[in-house]
Amino acid sequence: MTDRRPFVGGNWKMNTNRTTGSDLARGVTDGLIGVDGVETAVFPPFPYLLTVRAILRDRGSSVRLGAQDNAFQNDGAFTGEVSLAMLKDCGTQVVLCGHSERRHVLGEKDETVNRKLRAVLEAGLEGVLCVGETLDERTAGHQDIVTARQVRTGLADIPASVADRLIIAYEPVWAIGTGKTATPQDAQEAHSQIRQLLARLFGPDSANRVRIIYGGSLKPDIAAAIFAQPDVDGGLVGGASLNAADFVAICKAAAASARGK
Ligand code: 13P
Repeated sequence: MTDRRPFVGGNWKMNTNRTTGSDLARGVTDGLIGVDGVETAVFPPFPYLLTVRAILRDRGSSVRLGAQDNAFQNDGAFTGEVSLAMLKDCGTQVVLCGHSERRHVLGEKDETVNRKLRAVLEAGLEGVLCVGETLDERTAGHQDIVTARQVRTGLADIPASVADRLIIAYEPVWAIGTGKTATPQDAQEAHSQIRQLLARLFGPDSANRVRIIYGGSLKPDIAAAIFAQPDVDGGLVGGASLNAADFVAICKAAAASARGK
């Protein structure tokens, strides 16, 4: 029996516009009315945070507002960056740190991810540390070493006391946007390794409070089998989160999985 409340996030990435994002936010909030037992969040692009926040607020929705990235600096001459004060000002409650596209497309390093995550947690928000190996790393049998390094470095100087506001997203890069979902067994193995590492870093009690969620081609038909695994506490959804009905179905699968654990 676990006390961990599942978490499902919809990472919209660089998709939607003001109209389609608004429609999606309305579809998600309406679809999740009456769905208990799962914490949910949407991560729209920065320009639409306020628009989506207004929709969530008007509907009294419990769907949380998330941001896809943050600067670790407070303010100043950092053209194009967005600070945590700005994100909080726009109602953001949870932030993704070190998403694979930021690491592998935009060149973000473990140390930068750590500074960003520390800033998120120090600002009192929930932080989602994203980790996961590439196909080459997996083929070489290095998946455990890679994810352990990303978790260990990502969590440097972060105290166990933040366990309730920390989420780790295991998103194998080879599964993101490819249609190749990890098997439930692959996901459980990776999540269990991460939880064992967390126990060494934070102690077993705190490690048991951290949610570890799966991301990578999550779809409604496979979600229940993945969420049934003991160390999988929900998911981070990309493509399928752009369809309100699919995202809602995945959230419902997470809520149902919690009742069985
Ligand atoms: P897909 O669900 O499109 O594979 O994306 C996963 C992801 O990167 C979520 O952050």
